[in-house]
Amino acid sequence: MTSPIRFELIKTCKQTGARLGVLHTPHGSFETPMFMPVGTLATVKTLSPEELKEMGAGVILSNTYHLWLRPGHEIIKEAGGLHSFMNWDRGILTDSGGFQVFSLSDFRKIEEEGVYFRNHLNGDKLFLSPEKAIEIQNALGSDIIMAFDECPPYPATYEYMKQSVERTSRWAERCLKAHKRPDEQGLFGIVQGGEFEGLRRQSAQDLVSLDFPGYAIGGLSVGEPKEVMNRVLEFTTPLLPVNKPRYLMGVGSPDSLIDGAIRGIDMFDCVLPTRIGRNGTVMTSQGRVVIKNAQYARDFSPLDPNCDCYTCRNYTRAYIRHLIKCDETFGIRLTSYHNVYFLIKLMEQVRQAIREDRLRDFRDEFFERYGFNKP
Ligand code: GUN
Ligand code: ZN
Repeated sequence: MTSPIRFELIKTCKQTGARLGVLHTPHGSFETPMFMPVGTLATVKTLSPEELKEMGAGVILSNTYHLWLRPGHEIIKEAGGLHSFMNWDRGILTDSGGFQVFSLSDFRKIEEEGVYFRNHLNGDKLFLSPEKAIEIQNALGSDIIMAFDECPPYPATYEYMKQSVERTSRWAERCLKAHKRPDEQGLFGIVQGGEFEGLRRQSAQDLVSLDFPGYAIGGLSVGEPKEVMNRVLEFTTPLLPVNKPRYLMGVGSPDSLIDGAIRGIDMFDCVLPTRIGRNGTVMTSQGRVVIKNAQYARDFSPLDPNCDCYTCRNYTRAYIRHLIKCDETFGIRLTSYHNVYFLIKLMEQVRQAIREDRLRDFRDEFFERYGFNKP
């Protein structure tokens, strides 16, 4: 049986070691490193699938936990799967629910069998296990499905993290056994282990021995300093097979995308562009702009003078500021569009820099303009 998910390594950047590749999925092939916009509830908030395609999005992410609660995976299965339900014919990756249970629920009890917790909408008791998370994702029909893992909070003790890593490995094996559509959906394992090198190694070895078609690095961007994330990536990516895709979960700030790519990451996802867009913050080539600020009331220039997105070609900062201050939905559509476009184009620039062996130079120039300090 050949995997429905295949990673083709095109080249590595001579300046940094970053990888240029192609991710082949049942819904198309997409160049990496790539950014995946998040559509938790089967919609990337405020954006249509047509708009996402026009900006060049290849894979979007959705959530097992949320779609299980509403509308329910049976309804999505009846619709012919998530692709036809939401009218998106490119790639879909679904997260397993592991992380959402930990981030959204106040009550939870982790046992070997699975996790008991409360529905964040109505307080009902719920139970999610490796088998259940895979059953739901099999019904959704996403191209890439994720193993059910535990993402412990930061900081966690070595002892706790060790128990957790071992449980996550046992759960990963159960996920593989429960997976009913291995020739249509690629199941990725998730490496945990926090900031501990030995535990990251143990986790990576356990999962690599199970031979997943791709590997995620989880448990990062949970409040640790940026240097910790970079260090963890530096010792973790070399533990993963070169011919499989590597996905850094929940990371989407421009600096982390570049620094992750430099450390061998191929895929990223984050709610950041849509979330900050909805509260009126935009990413530009000169850094973040908080559009509600009074200084933009008479600013008739685009959000980013160096951007050629739909928003920047047609609308001014003053107009967008007015819409957002009046809670007009068109305002958050315009900022969300620009922010997602910004990250998708940033990854295009990263790929071009890898092609030309100059990602280190690109990073330094980008950080300088964006206002980040050099390392
Ligand atoms: N999203 C961000 N981090 C994580 C993680 O560690 N596990 C899962 N399943 N999803 C995530
Ligand atoms: Zn723009």
